[in-house]
Amino acid sequence: MSQDQQPPAGSPDAQVEMRSWPRGTSALRYGGDYNPEQWPREIWLEDIALMREAGINLVSIGIFSWALLEPREGEFDFSFLDDILSLLADAGIDVDLGTPTAAPPAWFWKKYPQARVITRDGVTLGRGSRGMGSPSSPEYRACAARITTELARRYASHPAVRMWHVHNEYGAPVSDCYSEQSVAAFRTWLRAKYATLDLVNEAWGTTFWGQRYGAWDEIDAPKTSASVVNPSQRLDFQRFTSDALLECYVLERDIIRSFSPDTPITTNFMATNCPSVDYWKWAREVDVVANDHYLAAERLDNHIMLAMDADFTRSLAGSRPWMLMEHSTSAVNWQPRNIAKRPGEMARNSLSHVARGADAVMFFQFRASRFGAEKFHSAMLPHDGTSSRIWREVGQLGASLGSLSAVRSTRVDARVGIVWDIESFWAQDLEWRPSEDLDHRERIEAFYTVLWNLGITVDFVHPEHHLDGYDVVLMPASYSISDHARDNLESYVSRGGKLVVSYFSGIVDERDSVPAGGYPGQLRRILGLTVTEWLPLRASESIILDNGATADVWAEDIVLDGAAVEARYATGPAVGKPALTRHEYGKGAAWYVSTRLDSHGLASYLTGILETARIRPHFTLPDGVETVTRVSDTEQFIFVINHTDEATTVPSAGHDLLSGNETVAGSALPPGAVCVIRQPRAT
Ligand code: GLA
Repeated sequence: MSQDQQPPAGSPDAQVEMRSWPRGTSALRYGGDYNPEQWPREIWLEDIALMREAGINLVSIGIFSWALLEPREGEFDFSFLDDILSLLADAGIDVDLGTPTAAPPAWFWKKYPQARVITRDGVTLGRGSRGMGSPSSPEYRACAARITTELARRYASHPAVRMWHVHNEYGAPVSDCYSEQSVAAFRTWLRAKYATLDLVNEAWGTTFWGQRYGAWDEIDAPKTSASVVNPSQRLDFQRFTSDALLECYVLERDIIRSFSPDTPITTNFMATNCPSVDYWKWAREVDVVANDHYLAAERLDNHIMLAMDADFTRSLAGSRPWMLMEHSTSAVNWQPRNIAKRPGEMARNSLSHVARGADAVMFFQFRASRFGAEKFHSAMLPHDGTSSRIWREVGQLGASLGSLSAVRSTRVDARVGIVWDIESFWAQDLEWRPSEDLDHRERIEAFYTVLWNLGITVDFVHPEHHLDGYDVVLMPASYSISDHARDNLESYVSRGGKLVVSYFSGIVDERDSVPAGGYPGQLRRILGLTVTEWLPLRASESIILDNGATADVWAEDIVLDGAAVEARYATGPAVGKPALTRHEYGKGAAWYVSTRLDSHGLASYLTGILETARIRPHFTLPDGVETVTRVSDTEQFIFVINHTDEATTVPSAGHDLLSGNETVAGSALPPGAVCVIRQPRAT
């Protein structure tokens, strides 16, 4: 936004604009969770000096401090926060102040046992850990509102507080709850959605297995039952759960906003790794999208999955800058084998997030805990202190981020979108599907990996959102497609879009009901075909297509209705039948991949489709070298991240912001190294 376009000071638009990023430094934000309550005050002074040494300019505090701040119900003691906030303010370190509602105190659990979470199997969760009360508990909400009010009242104008961090990771470790309080709230939610019981009965298809409801209080949460519980009911319960959690966030946010209208408020997401929350809905409610990401460390392609998570986060943020709120300097402590990051890996991870739109790099946590459940989790300052490799690398990363100020607020543009619809995942993950090998996450990762390997940046999209900005939309796994999404996809393609659909997509509508006619009912028109029978393959059975590709998991009996065949099954149960098809639809086209192609076959098929939209890699680089470009109106910043053990070459000339050197195309980039080439924007 230019100066002339600034909204008038004090207007609601100006407040929204002010809240779009923590005010203060023009550098990228750098820091982490900081838990000073675990340490004596003399250590705080050392910590603050070390933070300054490392270039840290933002810390998240207070996230788990409820028991300290409200030692008895309604009695508050803010002395520790007063003290640490003023020390941080004096040191020029900004604070992202947490509300502590992810860990209620012991008095809460003792006084309000009805607020405890009950699992689907009927287990009442015990105490002595962390985890909120039932999201639908009136007592939990009232207590959360009270501590939030006291915090917001006291610190709204504190000079250190540049941002508010509501709660911690809604959806983990608490998500769905089957307590009586939740059941009551579920009924209220259903009344708001359907208004009448008849409409509930219709939407859930309760004539099946004689499940018809005659009164609202006959409806229960979908608890573990004698057999499979009504899938439409379960799907609605998932939606209810996400909404109940969101209500808890909005409750706290609105309290804070009433005291602190200009300060951004966020909560930390877990982008692709939170199975219980619909982040497309949530993203509209935060001022700045913030994300926590931890490597699935044992996976050799964990850097590709990191990139996918970052691209999804940027997409949630609507391409505005976002914050990496947590990641780890090295190993976590909660995976089966907690693989440590090798020298340089932490910086590559961090800079990959920045390359994909993050303007903040934060860690869990600043100083490693000496006690408690997370004492073996890595930290910025490990147990062995400042002589450690990790601390050295933390300082180097601080310096690197300091040299990247020019990338702040620049964009990442993408011409390809991948559909991500958690409601569809919820629906597909229910019981009794045609093959246990149908795995939506695996398909999305496979499609994403092809694009990552090509160096083509993608956004993630919701099928009901506006898609016209994308030349190609990939839909690797969308079992359920709402009627609205179906219409949206049809109009996208008819206006010239290119859509690629993989098997087991568009099978049901948003109620988990099969539309009349053959499969895939929601996509038949657009794909120009009907699937008359699914032909799931046996475990480890593989088949061949007549274009030479191999495939497994799935085959189908397809009858064409306008689509053209691009490859047929050469072996397996659908031998001779179409396997890959293309359908011209309006001004655009829709491709269908009816089997699980191996990675090579998928890469070559997708490359050909992308070529029809003239989407090609900008640079040809060896496998394992990542490139992403951030752009402003006048400049571009090419990130090149060498994840391999071999030297590679810099693909383009310019000023490397990290080394400070001018580079020429073809100069060496050592194993594991990163460069960020600044250039005038290519026209
Ligand atoms: C999550 C939590 C943190 C911490 C880390 C450990 O992201 O938000 O409090 O437990 O995991 O990896």
